[in-house]
Amino acid sequence: MYNIGVIGTGYVGLVQGVIMAEFGMNVICMDVVSEKIEKLKKGILPIYEPGLKELLDKNVTSGRLHFLTDIQETVEKSDVIFIAVGTPPQDDGSADLQYVQAVAKSIGKYMNGYKIIVDKSTVPVGTGKIVRDIVQEELDRRGGNFEFDIVSNPEFLREGKAVRDCLTPDRVVIGAESEKAVDIMKKVYDVLYINQTPFLITNLETAEMIKYASNAFLAVKISFINEMALLADKVGANIQEIARGMGMDGRISPKFLHAGPGYGGSCFPKDTKAIADIAHQYDEQLLVIEAAIKANEKQKRKMSERIISTVSQEVPLEHATFAIWGLSFKPETDDMRDAPSIDIIRALVSVGAKIRAYCPEGLKEAKWRLKDIEDSMTYCRNEYEAAEGADAIILLTEWHQFRGAYLNKVKDVMKNDYFFDLRNVFSKNIEVKKIFKYSGVGC
Ligand code: NAD
Ligand code: UDX
Repeated sequence: MYNIGVIGTGYVGLVQGVIMAEFGMNVICMDVVSEKIEKLKKGILPIYEPGLKELLDKNVTSGRLHFLTDIQETVEKSDVIFIAVGTPPQDDGSADLQYVQAVAKSIGKYMNGYKIIVDKSTVPVGTGKIVRDIVQEELDRRGGNFEFDIVSNPEFLREGKAVRDCLTPDRVVIGAESEKAVDIMKKVYDVLYINQTPFLITNLETAEMIKYASNAFLAVKISFINEMALLADKVGANIQEIARGMGMDGRISPKFLHAGPGYGGSCFPKDTKAIADIAHQYDEQLLVIEAAIKANEKQKRKMSERIISTVSQEVPLEHATFAIWGLSFKPETDDMRDAPSIDIIRALVSVGAKIRAYCPEGLKEAKWRLKDIEDSMTYCRNEYEAAEGADAIILLTEWHQFRGAYLNKVKDVMKNDYFFDLRNVFSKNIEVKKIFKYSGVGC
């Protein structure tokens, strides 16, 4: 059994730490934010992630999972150290590596024996080697003479399904420079190895690039279907049937072909920009990915333009009220990073409209992200309250509870009867089209 340290206890680090403990390892989850660590020690999750609380409680009780703010103790007590800090985008789209570099420096400063340093964060190609140099520099500075290995082990979890994705991943990618490191990583992931999860062993650069290439490919797929949806609207075709027809071809697959308001979240927007930036650094241009990024911006813009042009025919926009159903970038998460709701709400507010917003988990984060327009925002306790006095419903995130809304009850409290279903949740519901002036995305 190995002692595992996970540095950075966010969406990825926390889930990784909990699952490693579930796999039988001794785990320390470390973060610089002491409130987060204090909460976790009391069993309070700092994020909303289904299924995580039960596993957290179980593994804390078993004594396998610990929370610390002390990086020295974390490094000293760990055989395998996962770096899971953020790599947010900078203004030029490149990934900000300052947190990864700071952690590498601390590891070099405090390591007290052989360590495997695993990069779990999504990082530009070449970062593994940068981490190695920083650790070595720090060791040299203090005259430390310890061996270490660098591993790239990208994470593919989806928020809202993170526990399931980590317990049963499609694959485990390990980029390493030595057989010893590969052997230890296989033992760390023993449970998955025994369960015959596919393992892919590569060099560092390949593993680093697999992560960006995967996210960029999925983003391209979404932008592709969103463009088809814009065209389907014009020619009178149905995007859901088109996606179904396309997805029946095994080479295409039906997954990630749901048209919507544009992709959001903490990964696709930042990782597509980061890989495009990496290419520029090597004097290359990733035309397909750059087009997907532009198409995504266009999709969000098109959605607000359509809403504005439709409603303004009947209601002056400075008197219009929009009910937003769903704020988080996808269901089953409280994460609002790059959520399409932010751009769409800002576009509506910029033309003078008022917003009544409800989201099962996104309200808290929305309040600080939209603080500058708080005078135009009313945050509501449920979807019915949001609909009160509204001219239009805009369904932005496909939370299950919206599917079960009593539509007549919703209509009764509204001032007008527009329904913009940007996730096509009700596209096959005949009632909704009788009750509202309904429009979906490409259907
Ligand atoms: P996050 O912002 O939720 O968490 C990062 C954590 O690192 C924060 O709690 C922060 O306080 C902590 N931190 C920063 N500097 C630190 C330091 N020096 N020492 C200790 N802790 C420190 O980020 P996240 O969403 O978990 O993403 C982490 C990485 O994983 C990113 O590179 C991201 O691209 C990648 N990733 C994210 C997802 C996802 O769905 N969120 C999926 C796959 C990969
Ligand atoms: C993504 C990757 O799927 C995951 O492998 C990686 O580790 C992190 O980034 P995540 O951002 O959590 O995961 O959610 P995902 O389900 O991929 O959705 C991302 C965005 O794309 C959301 O805004 C979602 O609404 C949108 N999306 C997804 C679509 O618009 N249509 C689809 O068909 C699928």
